Amino acid sequence: MTTPRPQLAPSLLSADAGQLAEAARAAEAGGADLLHIDVMDGHFVPNITFGPHVVAAIRRASRLPLDVHLMVQEPGPLVDAFIDAGADVLTVHWEAVTHLERLLAHIKDRQCLAGIAVNPATPVSLLADVWDECDWLLIMSVNPGFSGQPFWPRAIHKVQTARERRGELARPRIAVDGGVDESTAPRLVAAGADVLVAGSYVFDGGEPAVRLANLRRAVTS
Ligand code: DX5
Ligand code: ZN
Repeated sequence: MTTPRPQLAPSLLSADAGQLAEAARAAEAGGADLLHIDVMDGHFVPNITFGPHVVAAIRRASRLPLDVHLMVQEPGPLVDAFIDAGADVLTVHWEAVTHLERLLAHIKDRQCLAGIAVNPATPVSLLADVWDECDWLLIMSVNPGFSGQPFWPRAIHKVQTARERRGELARPRIAVDGGVDESTAPRLVAAGADVLVAGSYVFDGGEPAVRLANLRRAVTS
């Protein structure tokens, strides 16, 4: 069985907020596989970012699948608005949802992939009873809230744990978010990551296409 190539998901949080559509198009032209959109509520994390209208605007700007990461306390009442806006993957935090199994089922009923994100302090083992309902596991390698933070190295072990638990199955896809660059990316892929989210590495230094090509090279060489 061949392993599918890792997918690259640039995070628009690090792009110029006044030029999000242009950033989305640049990422698409530069070989991104998905666009990662960070939604923050000022409660679950100490920052506020995008609402559904911004997701809808990005949907109009790009054909890439939209991977929407909700850093929102009790996101249940908001998920339909983000799916209507064009989310293809909708990820909620394990730490932020009281009735997680019910919410995952609802997201899947809406024909959207249902993701669970775990903060650095949350072990993958706590997902045991919702594992089968999870299409997408987002392992945080920083505490969420801001781009540009240093990579948390224990995330590599967590990716290995998740990959072992998944065995030969295709799901959940294992994504990693925070501090991904050309040095951390190969270690994460070697541990079993399927999807790499990268914000500041892609958007904070020069051309997104060049940065995406560097990342691609780093995980395929
Ligand atoms: C952090 C966000 C990340 C962020 C990653 O809370 O969830 O998606 O944009 O940024 P970097 O890659 O700079 O750590
Ligand atoms: Zn994110």
